[in-house]
Amino acid sequence: PLVSMTEMLNKAKEGHYAVGQFNINNLEFTQAILLAAEEEKSPVILGVSEGAGRYIGGFKTVVKMVEGLMEDYKITVPVAIHLDHGSSYDKCKEAIDAGFTSVMIDASHHPFEENVAITSKVVEYAHAKDVSVEAELGTVGGQEDDVVANGVIYADPNECQELVKRTGIDTLAPALGSVHGPYKGEPNLGFKEMEEIGKATGLPLVLHGGTGIPTKDIQKAISLGTAKINVNTENQIASAKKVREVLAADAEMYDPRKYLGPARDAIKETVIGKIREFGSSNKA
Ligand code: G3H
Ligand code: ZN
Repeated sequence: PLVSMTEMLNKAKEGHYAVGQFNINNLEFTQAILLAAEEEKSPVILGVSEGAGRYIGGFKTVVKMVEGLMEDYKITVPVAIHLDHGSSYDKCKEAIDAGFTSVMIDASHHPFEENVAITSKVVEYAHAKDVSVEAELGTVGGQEDDVVANGVIYADPNECQELVKRTGIDTLAPALGSVHGPYKGEPNLGFKEMEEIGKATGLPLVLHGGTGIPTKDIQKAISLGTAKINVNTENQIASAKKVREVLAADAEMYDPRKYLGPARDAIKETVIGKIREFGSSNKA
């Protein structure tokens, strides 16, 4: 069923595993992620960036595509459709009105008081419709669609505690050294702050930039209260690699099903690997 993230993340935090947010970019990504989650009997979060929403046709198309696939595939595991890095109250409202079950309001680049004000407004609208809300503090490095960071800023534990208290969000993404896209060298995550923020807020935490984080760091993050891990680039790389391979092997190929089908299988395998790594198999 389509659900918000609240229950799945609270359960994950309690059970010491994490639910994957896998970003969708098109039909094949959506198919692959839903099939992987169903096969693993795992809850799953479909992440939709504003750019991906535009690419697919709009938020309404996203919701109807997901609903259609869930019916045709007879999906039984909990699925959330989540706006990733929502840039404004209006964008969050648009997603909620289209049927998204969860939104992230990313007002992390605004001054703290403005972040609190925008996030509170989103929470008020979302909670009235049983939609969950994720907020961010600090800056995730790298770039994803329209979200470009200049430098990495670690979230401040005191601000995190205050933001949570004043807004009533369901989950928090404290930026602690993670990066969108591939890492240059090993990630250097602020585990001390993660522990402090997890304890101070009592909320399940979100780790952005899941691509390229070593398993030992994933496990440590989960042990410190991280209950949601976002992955996009890794699936994009797996899919692009497969398309290149298949087209290079046959210069006469033109049927998109013949190169996007194998790409879909590659995404599915990657997602299954992540679900197992995050420990959410058989938790649906
Ligand atoms: O919001 C989405 C994630 O943070 C994705 O990060 O592309 O580095 O896996 P990634
Ligand atoms: Zn992100």
